[in-house]
Amino acid sequence: MTLPRLLITRRLEQAALAHAATRFDVTLWPEDAPIGDAFDTLSQDQDAILFMANDPMTAERLARLVPRTRAIATYSVGHEHIDLAAATRVGLPVFFAGDALSDAVADTALFLILAGTRDTTHNERLLRTGQWGPWSPTAFVSRDLKRKRLGIFGMGRIGQAIARRARGFGLAIHYHNRSRLPADLEAGAQYHATLDDLMRVSDILCCAAPLSAATRGAISRERIALLPRGAVFTNIARGDLVDEDALIEAVRDGHIGGLGLDVYRNEPRIDPRFLDLPNTTLLPHVGSAALDTRVDMANLVVDALADYVAHGVRADNVLNPEAWTS
Ligand code: DGY
Repeated sequence: MTLPRLLITRRLEQAALAHAATRFDVTLWPEDAPIGDAFDTLSQDQDAILFMANDPMTAERLARLVPRTRAIATYSVGHEHIDLAAATRVGLPVFFAGDALSDAVADTALFLILAGTRDTTHNERLLRTGQWGPWSPTAFVSRDLKRKRLGIFGMGRIGQAIARRARGFGLAIHYHNRSRLPADLEAGAQYHATLDDLMRVSDILCCAAPLSAATRGAISRERIALLPRGAVFTNIARGDLVDEDALIEAVRDGHIGGLGLDVYRNEPRIDPRFLDLPNTTLLPHVGSAALDTRVDMANLVVDALADYVAHGVRADNVLNPEAWTS
């Protein structure tokens, strides 16, 4: 039996590649670097394409894929690198990693919330550099989670997974989202119709909103100033949500008391001023970087592509359902 053809633009975990090979004749970009311009050659004559969050899918690129390519998928939940309107115009459904990474990313958020609140990175540095003296009631004292309000900006799948975990730590959940959740999903969380209102009550803020034209730069200098003094700031979504100059200044002057970041504006070359900030934990965009999650993400999108290409099945982890009819 001839299998349909799939281009994968970056090496995946072995178990994921093995699964993909059961459903597709796979062409794999072999380098340990983004595919870049080689995409335009390798993507010719493929039934489906699986690409990464750092492979831009411009209107020109998408137009060149059709009519040969039937469907594409991003190995991510974020989709700001794809011109979705253009994909819809040319009739290409775009699948994404859906819920496969929500738990791992929410775990990372909780890690940053804990690290930012309890100053763990700073305290570990003191230990490693021989600055740990005799036990003292006033040494290494940080902040509590109890009696604190966690503000979640963006209450999609990942925001809700963060809220579920944070309740277990006794945090009161507040959120801002484009629209209010139904009561069963809200589970007692307090909705704020504006981001300004959420900022004002967030002892700890966690950014979990997708990056879009509406959210780019939403965490502005003015909004950072609305946080209660000493607030903890965390971001597991995208760096471009935030005015990084204002964020750095707010940590330096103590307005932000703890910082935990997994994402930055200019990855991987982050603003070097982050490196010297006090009470700061910096991770290299590892939210979904857990083995089972990475395999689950791949299997989800590979199966969606294969089911569509071979059988016309319309999986629901699609970003542009309008493409079915275009
Ligand atoms: C995602 O899936 O969007 C992750 O942040 C990787 O880009």
